[in-house]
Amino acid sequence: MSNTSKIQVICIASGKGGVGKTVIAVNLAVALQRMGKHVMLLDCDLDMANAHIALGTQCDHNLSHFLSGEKTLQEIAVTTRSGVRLVPGASGLKHMAAISQLQAASIVQAFSALEEELDYLIVDISAGISPPTLAFMVACPRRFIVVRDDPLSIADAFATIKVLVQDYGLSEIYLLPNGMCSQQDGELLFNRIDRACANFLNQSIHYIGTIKQDRDILLALKKCQSVLESAPKSLCAKDFKRLALLTEALEPISYASGVLEFFIERLVKENTFTRNSEALQVSRNEFASSAVPNGKYH
Ligand SMILES: Nc1ncnc2c1ncn2[C@@H]1O[C@H](COP(=O)(O)OP(=O)(O)OP(=O)(O)O)[C@@H](O)[C@H]1O
Ligand SMILES: [Mg+2]
Repeated sequence: MSNTSKIQVICIASGKGGVGKTVIAVNLAVALQRMGKHVMLLDCDLDMANAHIALGTQCDHNLSHFLSGEKTLQEIAVTTRSGVRLVPGASGLKHMAAISQLQAASIVQAFSALEEELDYLIVDISAGISPPTLAFMVACPRRFIVVRDDPLSIADAFATIKVLVQDYGLSEIYLLPNGMCSQQDGELLFNRIDRACANFLNQSIHYIGTIKQDRDILLALKKCQSVLESAPKSLCAKDFKRLALLTEALEPISYASGVLEFFIERLVKENTFTRNSEALQVSRNEFASSAVPNGKYH
């Protein structure tokens, strides 16, 4: 476990689905790898795991084989063309209601036995705050919340942040506007949401950069490549490099017992599985009625 204690674990989350989490997880992972870091991407999207497609990798095995005990973590992890190590996800696991309770012991053992040197573990998850998704968000010491400049995405991002802040007392929350026209627009969106957090949750959040809307992202996906590989000079490739630099500049979080043990320990805590979609609905409504008095976000 000695060489895993310095790993920085970052969860890529969102309130609303389809806002660009997987695109960001993949491209951030590749950008960090290109900076000479050792990066592993863990696909924990229990609805529709697809990071392997974005990275152009065929996987014989995935998280489900690991969770069933058929394979070790080492056996399911693959090295992608970009050099990023990938633990492929498995679709349909959402219905495994007690994923942590069922497999906690084997997960702990497997991560503890992982001998490779890693700097970053990027965790791609499903949207929203279903119990297992929230569990991953809580378990990771740091989380980037992806948001688009659309009222539904903003309201759901706020609702998610509210649960993380009020129910779990978490502070390592970073907003990551995606699909924006400019970096400045992203900063303005951050300021609006941060102000609502300060006013209604009594807590500020952090800003970790903006990714612009760029057709090269879709073209890269069609080639099953990261945009850093398919269009290294594109506007969004520049944004991902910037995001990787800002990520690298964050104060490292260290844990005496090793961050992966911390990650799993938090993951299996009983109380991270008690939330349901009711909480999302309540705070979503609250934000809509109180933070948007004139139908506008200020
Ligand atoms: N900055 C961007 N510019 C242009 N297109 C983008 C951008 N970010 C994401 N997309 C497009 O949005 C779509 C959804 O992206 P992605 O699959 O990463 O979302 P997601 O949040 O992971 O979705 P889910 O919640 O289903 O997991 C992709 O098809 C991608 O082409
Ligand atoms: Mg996704």
